[in-house]
Amino acid sequence: MSLLPLDDRDGVIWTNGKLVPWRDAKVHVLSHSLHYGNAVFEGERCYGGKVFKLRQHSQRLLDSAALVAMAIPYTVEEIDAATDLVVRENKLDSGYVRPIAWRGAEVIGVSAKGTKVHVAVAAFPWPAYYGGAAIKLKTSRWKRPSPESAPTAAKCAGLYVICTMARDEAVAAGYDDAFMHDYRGQVAEATSANLFFVTPDGTLHTPTADCFLNGITRQTVIDLARAHGITVVERAIWPEEIRSAKEVFVTGTAVEVTAVGQIDDQTFPVGPITKSLQAAYAELVRA
Ligand SMILES: Cc1ncc(COP(=O)(O)O)c(C=O)c1O
Repeated sequence: MSLLPLDDRDGVIWTNGKLVPWRDAKVHVLSHSLHYGNAVFEGERCYGGKVFKLRQHSQRLLDSAALVAMAIPYTVEEIDAATDLVVRENKLDSGYVRPIAWRGAEVIGVSAKGTKVHVAVAAFPWPAYYGGAAIKLKTSRWKRPSPESAPTAAKCAGLYVICTMARDEAVAAGYDDAFMHDYRGQVAEATSANLFFVTPDGTLHTPTADCFLNGITRQTVIDLARAHGITVVERAIWPEEIRSAKEVFVTGTAVEVTAVGQIDDQTFPVGPITKSLQAAYAELVRA
């Protein structure tokens, strides 16, 4: 059965404290967040009916909301419980979970004062994000903004305008995703995943997450790598440095650990460090 369109499925979506039939989980066209981009959301995966790192994701939803001055009217425990409930009620074994908080249609105008905050959690099957093989990235003309210009640590809908344009341009050019630099010209990330590089000395390098999401998978993979005796270095990385990389991979809830086989015109092998971290991550999420 097709997964799409996503608004026409059987099942239930947790919405503002209740389970609502899937097709009835709708928002009004005058919702503030639809106009001003201030919704915050999460992307989670469940394995064997259990969401991996659920508490961290629920907490990040609350933290993202706080960064855009939105008060979510639920505790982290209530969001965890809502998530477990929709996974169970939709009989989801493996799949994706999308909690979202948005401002309603109580006011029009840039100020959000007076809006009600709504929360929903949906869960549905979702296979491998890129299809499983090593991916090709194309350097994007779009840059990740400075934390002085945007709430870059928040998983906020408005920030994804850049990601959608960057990814669609890369895909139109025959690539799988965009390789994004930041406002300083340093290496940032892909459009929904963090980047890692193995340098010629066998150490693993990843850009400091100071203007993009410090992914939960990124943090997990750093811990896994260190537990495997691999030295991990978080630092500012310039795009030219990637030329000498021995291996490149991306991490994210949706993409898990995916090898990067090409950036622009340069190819990279799927090497032993990437393979061992893919295996370790696959084992951990199902543990
Ligand atoms: C822009 C962006 N960067 C990185 C990530 C990876 O974050 P996580 O590992 O928490 O899924 C995501 C996915 O949520 C993302 O959307």
